[in-house]
Amino acid sequence: MSAPLLTELPSPLDDLSVWPASTARLPQGHVSVGGVSLADIADRFDTPAYVLDEEEIRARCRTYRAAFPQADVVYAAKAFLSRAMVRWIDEEGLGLDVCSAGELELAVTAGFPPERMVLHGNAKTPRDIETALRLGVGRIVVDSPSEIARIAALVGPAGRQKVMVRVVPGISAGGHEKIRTGTDGQKFGLSLTDGSARHAIARVLGQHQLELTGLHCHIGSQITDVKPYLVAVRRMVGLMARVRESHGVTFPELDLGGGHGIAYRPGEPALDLTALARRLDAELSASCAAAGLPAPRLAVEPGRAIAAPAGVALYRVLAVKHTGPTLFVAVDGGMSDNPRPALYGARYAPRLIGRPAVAEPVTATVVGRHCEAGDVLASDVLLPGDVRPGDVLAVPVAGAYQVSMASAYNLVGRPPVVAVHDGTARLLIRRETQEDFRRRDIGA
Ligand code: LLP
Repeated sequence: MSAPLLTELPSPLDDLSVWPASTARLPQGHVSVGGVSLADIADRFDTPAYVLDEEEIRARCRTYRAAFPQADVVYAAKAFLSRAMVRWIDEEGLGLDVCSAGELELAVTAGFPPERMVLHGNAKTPRDIETALRLGVGRIVVDSPSEIARIAALVGPAGRQKVMVRVVPGISAGGHEKIRTGTDGQKFGLSLTDGSARHAIARVLGQHQLELTGLHCHIGSQITDVKPYLVAVRRMVGLMARVRESHGVTFPELDLGGGHGIAYRPGEPALDLTALARRLDAELSASCAAAGLPAPRLAVEPGRAIAAPAGVALYRVLAVKHTGPTLFVAVDGGMSDNPRPALYGARYAPRLIGRPAVAEPVTATVVGRHCEAGDVLASDVLLPGDVRPGDVLAVPVAGAYQVSMASAYNLVGRPPVVAVHDGTARLLIRRETQEDFRRRDIGA
């Protein structure tokens, strides 16, 4: 047997396990996703650029539907939204969770059936509610007592709107303090513990314009363990039983929100969807049987687990320097296209693409181009020792909460989104330009 080529040696730099399933190694250090070379995308669309693998999105939707055949799978648009995404989600038979008139209108004008949409928000504006009612959104999730009468008034005496009540079940779960929403002391929902959930339910039941179809909870995000969801089911069923006792009402629906955790770097844990579906089902049947309630129809609202693994961010290296013991590799994007490391301490695994990685790996810190020291994309990562300006770095698992949270900081311009599918690349969202900034800035 002949010795393998140096570039083919298994290397910590060459682990593609968190990349889209379509990812392929090409000769000379090139990598393709959806049949398209990433280096070609960087050349054609310039950098930074976000690549979205359509088939990966669709496959993840199908995996969810197969894992939850009895439940509604509702994609959380906040993770990433565009008109093409709306079409894929629709064609794959999912529902859509939106949290503003903006997301709602984009989806409806792109052809998404409003009755399969759920409107969330802890502070819905009059425009959010009016748009939801005008376009015929399927469910509005009540998040505070004050909006109950507002929604009912806007529905009008002849109308009837389906609503749910968002409950805080008192469960601490999630990848970071800023994305834990299952406990009291954060802004979302109505507490199970202090009775505000029951109070709100009673008020909603007193409004004939509102049809309360069930309860909702979203306990947090980037959760990799099934158990907190099972606890949520038990507590929600407990509340449903108390509601039946006091009001004689049984709810046909139970929405458990999203939050399903994924691996951002090779070897990290991810939530096991099949186990989640199976154990939720068992827990729901057992809890409902114990309470003598019919089992409600479940809904889940994944965002990240559908969009994130389908995205790859592409950057070009602009500068490489040693500062003290640290090797800084500075790229042409940063916290304006990915605020997640700065906000949540998120960790990523960037990789060199477009040329063979033969030099010994070194530990580096990949930073952005923005004018603050916290603009770090990935610290303590391995890159080839000869990484240099002009190289292209690709960051996998970039499809959620990056483009959707991008900002205009330093007027760098938000990056384009390029869809890849069957060997072709097409622009979904164009790059934000200086012209865009000039057109908004209308003062003298
Ligand atoms: N449903 C509701 C009501 C939500 O608030 C969220 C996310 C989801 C579903 C979807 O959660 P997912 O499956 O994507 O975890 N920007 C943060 C995540 C914030 C999540 C906000 N709500 C991040 O980048 O990690």
